[in-house]
Amino acid sequence: MSHGIGFIGGGNMGGAIISGLRKTDQQLQIRVNNRINIERLQNLVDKYSVIPSKLEDTVKNSRVLIIAVKPKDVRGVLEQLKIYQLTDKLIISVAAGVPLKVFYKYLPGIAVIRAMPNTSSAVLHSMTGMVRGENVTAEQVEMGEQIFAAIGKTMWIPEEKMNALISISGSAPAYFYLFAESLITAGVQLGFNEEEAGILVLETLLGAGKMIAESDKSPGILREAVTSPNGTTFAALQVFLDDKLPLTVRKAAQACVQRAEDMEGEYEE
Ligand SMILES: NC(=O)c1ccc[n+]([C@@H]2O[C@H](COP(=O)([O-])OP(=O)(O)OC[C@H]3O[C@@H](n4cnc5c(N)ncnc54)[C@H](OP(=O)(O)O)[C@@H]3O)[C@@H](O)[C@H]2O)c1
Repeated sequence: MSHGIGFIGGGNMGGAIISGLRKTDQQLQIRVNNRINIERLQNLVDKYSVIPSKLEDTVKNSRVLIIAVKPKDVRGVLEQLKIYQLTDKLIISVAAGVPLKVFYKYLPGIAVIRAMPNTSSAVLHSMTGMVRGENVTAEQVEMGEQIFAAIGKTMWIPEEKMNALISISGSAPAYFYLFAESLITAGVQLGFNEEEAGILVLETLLGAGKMIAESDKSPGILREAVTSPNGTTFAALQVFLDDKLPLTVRKAAQACVQRAEDMEGEYEE
């Protein structure tokens, strides 16, 4: 990538994207502007050779600015950006629940892409949903695509689907972590130590993910294929079904969408 990238916010998500980008491009100039946490910034400098920068330098030296602050801090950042010449800059916001119209309100005419990566960016397996703002040129679409394709897969969607995407992929690594955590706890209760249970669950999760990715069968067909009637897997799955796991998952996904909608509402107040 020939253009510099500037991060406004270098926390969990910013750091995950940076670590992924650095794995694929050692030469890329990455500037980071954060608020107060000097230690966290220094960590990014040590690990990924980012250039710690004031906002002014970050803006001047970057064709792409990635806003990776908490949703509640986006407004403050947009206020700060008002004084800069942003023509020809591409803004990419990863903030959940902050719609495009907020960016236009503070920075009229700005080229902005909303992106929703997930934290698997750090291992180059992000699933990133992307929304193209109305002023974004074809070249800028290509730049945005390149950044997120470097850290996983991308899917371009209309903005109406963004909250659903947050629920199904943005927040979803944590759902799988919870399941893994619960299975490790079950393993310990069944007599394994933490480390043994961790290895068993990790390898099984990786294998199941690879099966879903590499076989041409749906997860449902794969599940049926490993479930003999009245066998051991059948006994376990019966408990999940009796306790309505599929319904719980749908309710959790809906709660996530609701929270994203509420956050959008808070922005409009
Ligand atoms: N975590 C996820 O799984 C995930 C997934 C997709 C999208 N997101 C989105 O990513 C965004 C960031 O989340 P996070 O978990 O990375 O938060 P975080 O760890 O709290 O990091 C936020 C960063 O923003 C910086 N910051 C705050 N106000 C600033 C300002 N005015 N100027 C410059 N920097 C400022 C903070 O500076 P200090 O370091 O000095 O505190 C920190 O580096 C959120 O909007 C979230 O919706 C997160």
